[in-house]
Amino acid sequence: MISLGLRLTAEEEEMLDGRRGNATAKAMEIITTLGEIYGAERLIPVSSVQIAGVSYHNLGEAGLEYLAEMAEDGQTRVLTTLNPAGMDLEEWKKHGISPDFAANQKRVIEAFAKMGVITTCTCTPYLVGNLPHYGEHIAWAESSAVAFANSVIGARTNREGGPSALAAALTGRTAEYGLHLDENRHAEVKYEIETELHNTDDFGLLGQVIGNRTKNAIPYIAGVPRATSEELKSFCASIATYGGVALFHIEKITPNRTPIPEKIETVTKSDLDNARKELDDEGATIDFISVGCPHASIGEIARIAEMLDGKKVSEKKTVWITTAKPTKDLAIKMGYYDKIEEAGAYLVSDACCAVAPLKGRFTGLMTDSAKACFYARGKNNFKTEIRTVEECIEEAIS
Ligand code: F3S
Repeated sequence: MISLGLRLTAEEEEMLDGRRGNATAKAMEIITTLGEIYGAERLIPVSSVQIAGVSYHNLGEAGLEYLAEMAEDGQTRVLTTLNPAGMDLEEWKKHGISPDFAANQKRVIEAFAKMGVITTCTCTPYLVGNLPHYGEHIAWAESSAVAFANSVIGARTNREGGPSALAAALTGRTAEYGLHLDENRHAEVKYEIETELHNTDDFGLLGQVIGNRTKNAIPYIAGVPRATSEELKSFCASIATYGGVALFHIEKITPNRTPIPEKIETVTKSDLDNARKELDDEGATIDFISVGCPHASIGEIARIAEMLDGKKVSEKKTVWITTAKPTKDLAIKMGYYDKIEEAGAYLVSDACCAVAPLKGRFTGLMTDSAKACFYARGKNNFKTEIRTVEECIEEAIS
């Protein structure tokens, strides 16, 4: 029975008391418990969900059992997609994934499919059809996508966990608290950027600097004259990883309105240089190059295909360009896939270098992504170097 200030509609009461099935009741318990903890007065409908915790590598058997139980009678009520899995769901064999792992990963995907989840596994759902509009309430889990949705698109989501995102998918509801409310979306500290930013790696480093300093506070960023969508997605991944930031404002670029904070910090070229040094390990032997964190756009893939056309990747190196499956399909249609794969690199869909079981397979990662560096070190014990995409590809063929 719900107490405190959380009021439910008749339909929500039915979901909670089991009249809409066991999985829906369990999901509603999660949503209402979160609502009570955070002092929500009501639940609100969401139009889009993105679920994280998809790789069997992270879920394990316990997580899979939970999904299988929810899949017994659970059905999604809104558009729902998945975060990257631990492998390319079709071409996993040639990427060195074991049959055992593949079998378990497929069981995870089947459980989601049974619930009506669209089983494209990507951290950039907004590039492949799961695209909310400004002001829309959604429930997304992947931290880089949450930052992109709130900040660049202007949709509204808290940073959901795997179970709470699934619960939102099965009920079509979330509790109204946190970033769903106007008063929690105002900037708290202003950052004046006093250096030029050129590529995705620079934007990743900027996210690292601000994330490390701001720690959960909402930043207002001035002095960035322009940014591509790819640069913004790199920034989102990094500021979420290093600072837990789920919402930021960039003057004249992002759409939300906010009072400008009085507290001012500056970011200089030397801050960025120091961040770069921090991610460049001494004596790294690069045997793995990964681009596409967050998942590469079709524009990024086109450029990489051009760079690799007629070239050969060194036998001592493995190259993963990671992306969403619909983007890979488009790359196949456009001939980019052939150019990349004929050079000896892999265009990997549905997975990424952080959630695939790669520990022990490589020693040094080169990437343009500050977030990928964080996980390569923390999860896989790789040494790292951060470079531009062009430099990553040059390294691959050297
Ligand atoms: Fe996406 Fe994996 Fe990077 S989930 S943001 S490619 S670590």
